[in-house]
Amino acid sequence: MRLMPVLGAAAALVLANPALAQVKGPVSAASPGGTVSVEFGTDGDGRALYTVSRKGKPIIAPSRLGFLFTDVAKIDRRLEITGTETRDFDQTWNQPWGEWSSIRNRYRELKVHLRETTALARVFTVTFRLYDDGVGFRYEFPQQPNMAKTKIADELTEFAFAQDGTAWWKPAYLWNREEYLYDKTKLSSVSTAATPVTIKLADGTHVALHEAALIDFAGMNVTRTEGTTLRANLTPGAGRPKVEKTGAWNTPWRTLIIADDAPGIYMSHLMLNLNEPNKLGDMSWFKPGKFAGVWWNMIKGEWSWARGAKHGATNANVMRYIDFAAANGIPNVLVEGWNVGWDGDWFGNGWDMDFTKPTEDFDITMLSAYARKKGVRLVGHHETGGAVTHYDNQMDRSFAFAAKYGMMVVKTGYVTDAAQLERVDPDGTKYREWLEGQWMTNHFVRVAETAYKYRVAFDSHEPVKGTGLHRTYPNWVAREGMRGMEYNAWGGKNPPEHEANIVFTRMLEGPMDFTPGVLSLKGEKDSNILSTIAKQLALYVVIYSPVQMVADTPENYAKYPGPMKFIRDVPTDWDETRVLNGEVGDYVTIVRKQRGAEDWYLGAVGDEEARTVSFKLDFLNPGSKYVAEIYRDGDDADYRTDKRHAIVIEQRSVSAADSMTLRLAPGGGAAVRFRRVK
Ligand code: NOJ
Ligand code: CA
Repeated sequence: MRLMPVLGAAAALVLANPALAQVKGPVSAASPGGTVSVEFGTDGDGRALYTVSRKGKPIIAPSRLGFLFTDVAKIDRRLEITGTETRDFDQTWNQPWGEWSSIRNRYRELKVHLRETTALARVFTVTFRLYDDGVGFRYEFPQQPNMAKTKIADELTEFAFAQDGTAWWKPAYLWNREEYLYDKTKLSSVSTAATPVTIKLADGTHVALHEAALIDFAGMNVTRTEGTTLRANLTPGAGRPKVEKTGAWNTPWRTLIIADDAPGIYMSHLMLNLNEPNKLGDMSWFKPGKFAGVWWNMIKGEWSWARGAKHGATNANVMRYIDFAAANGIPNVLVEGWNVGWDGDWFGNGWDMDFTKPTEDFDITMLSAYARKKGVRLVGHHETGGAVTHYDNQMDRSFAFAAKYGMMVVKTGYVTDAAQLERVDPDGTKYREWLEGQWMTNHFVRVAETAYKYRVAFDSHEPVKGTGLHRTYPNWVAREGMRGMEYNAWGGKNPPEHEANIVFTRMLEGPMDFTPGVLSLKGEKDSNILSTIAKQLALYVVIYSPVQMVADTPENYAKYPGPMKFIRDVPTDWDETRVLNGEVGDYVTIVRKQRGAEDWYLGAVGDEEARTVSFKLDFLNPGSKYVAEIYRDGDDADYRTDKRHAIVIEQRSVSAADSMTLRLAPGGGAAVRFRRVK
């Protein structure tokens, strides 16, 4: 154990800051390239404070740490630093699937050991991992006599931003869970927000506040206390403290991704790097790919999940969707409403759901054999209706059943209002839990482990927020956790800026099952989606998921053979990803290199304004020739008019030395396949 020397610049910052005038320590450390630094000390009352700076500029001003407990005195004042340790780490690891095949994990770690000077004499460590694009820190409590059992009432971690700025955030604790549009306000006007919160500070620096590796803990929301200071606000448990622990415990990582601009935020690997490596084992059985689905007609209200005249999951319909998938090289077909339990009001009422009992008009033996013969697999669907213990009780046999019928992926769902998830304890007592509560974070890990036993992957709708856990549990391949395409079926459609928002907010959590590709641009009752057709194609590249839906109906796709070619071609697994340009909520251009192949794909989306994006093609292999197959908005395309389907499909020979300019229509986008010429 050695005490860190105080850096010159850090010492100046401390002295300049009256709140740290009496700081003991301070200790500090910088990221491997010196970009991001942290200082840590205690003030005159023995409060632990930390700061974060980037390129010498303060990002987080002195901010407090600590905890409230339900049964003992809080940890907050009367702390002393008993020692520090630093360590350098630099390793590259491979993702079984993803946006990058290999990821470098390079950080400097600073551990600050603390002890209370009170009779309780509790001890803990705050561990910082400093990256050149941000920092993660967590509390680590060893097993100790005065903390045999820990009952957390709240976490007192503060994030006192050193400047005001613009924040993109969504409210926490409201009935519709995580399915709110991102709000754009001043940071100093945020109330209580779910994370990630993305902030563009006054000087242009972009910061995303979130958490990594949320396991066996309550999810962290943040509440603005005053000015530009946010404080942790842990999700409640039902009939119990927010977090309960026995023996030693850690928090998840509290994370700040920091970059010059919005693309820099997306390009960070901090979220994945702060998660533990794959705990499950071999993933070679999982093949990323697209899926069609007996789905959009239900979302539009034309078919039903329940049995009866409008039942969607009939043998005839499913066979037609399998034929469509096979004809278009789509390897999977989702079927919803295939099982008993949907009749009546299933919203928040999942007690009748049985994921081993198909309805009479869904012959699973015949259909899975029919699919297999055509090179297609069924995707299972487990809609719990929020009856979570009921699901826990049938989970093992449900995944066994899915595997028996050749399913590689199951989509799960938890449709009920916030704080209505039913937990039934062994003594029969019932509770209503929050999605982000400690009990639910553990439930999702149970799903991952159970599904893996049968080599099944899953895609959770109405999920706990993503915190990079797909590194540790790589069969948790996607989740929803934001307003997806389904909102375009209903009234109150997603606005044109929605996707340019979620790339820099929700997508920092990990893959999203957005369900793109509604080429008809029609929702329920023939209502118009606020998008051009080219934008629907762009979404396959812009919004990442290893399982990507081909969401519209076969009949609608038959009307658009030109654009359909892009959907057929675009893969869902990548060696490399680059964000070429973008501003939160305005536009973004992303290019990705197909995994194990030479082609690149580009997606660009804008908002309600027309705009032109220009970029270099220097991501292409120098010296190679490519044909750019371009799908762009027609010159008169506009999401507000009957020209929303206007698209130009053209080809051009290009190389890495070229540039490209694309015009995005209002509500528009562009998609390009760069096909390498052999
Ligand atoms: C909500 C999901 O997001 C949607 O995809 C699904 O069809 C319904 N729940 C029914 O499970
Ligand atoms: Ca905008």
